[in-house]
Amino acid sequence: MKKIIALLIVACSLNVHAAAGTDYTVPYANDELFHVFGDKPGLVKLVDDFHDNLMRDPRTRPFFENVEQDFLKEKLVEQFCEVLGGPCVYNGPLMSKIHAQRGIGKTEFNALVQALQLAMDKNGIPFPAQNKLLAKLAPMHRDVVTKQ
Ligand code: HEM
Repeated sequence: MKKIIALLIVACSLNVHAAAGTDYTVPYANDELFHVFGDKPGLVKLVDDFHDNLMRDPRTRPFFENVEQDFLKEKLVEQFCEVLGGPCVYNGPLMSKIHAQRGIGKTEFNALVQALQLAMDKNGIPFPAQNKLLAKLAPMHRDVVTKQ
């Protein structure tokens, strides 16, 4: 019994900081990066531009056409804010649950990353900060990409 309790404690503590819609994404520990991205107003602007790019690109547009756009943007801001160490909690479903049945391949995943990079460039986010956000999002491909 003691062993089981000890295992449960270890399991809980491993998951305690996992967030942003996965079981494994650990947000940055302080809000330094969140400030580099311009706090919440900066993220709202970034996600607007990111979303415009997604709707413009024929590789990604079909996936997003029939989606509640304002809700999606709100959730992306929430997720990025949390990952970047900001004062937010992403409380949407797991990434695997949202994306698994959508037939997303590597091409579409890379297109989304490109759309985000373009938006970050446009908003003057310094390269090292861009890479830090991408480093947290990239491992999510395992939950998002389900098509060869
Ligand atoms: C690291 C990559 C990605 C991240 C971090 C991400 C993140 C998110 C988030 C936070 C949401 C909102 C979920 C909610 O309702 O709470 C979402 C929804 C969605 N994602 Fe992704 N996503 C990624 C990749 C992709 C890709 C590559 C596609 C397709 C090209 C895609 C298509 C969608 C669609 C269609 C929805 C809307 C679901 C709905 O509201 O019905 N995602 N994503």
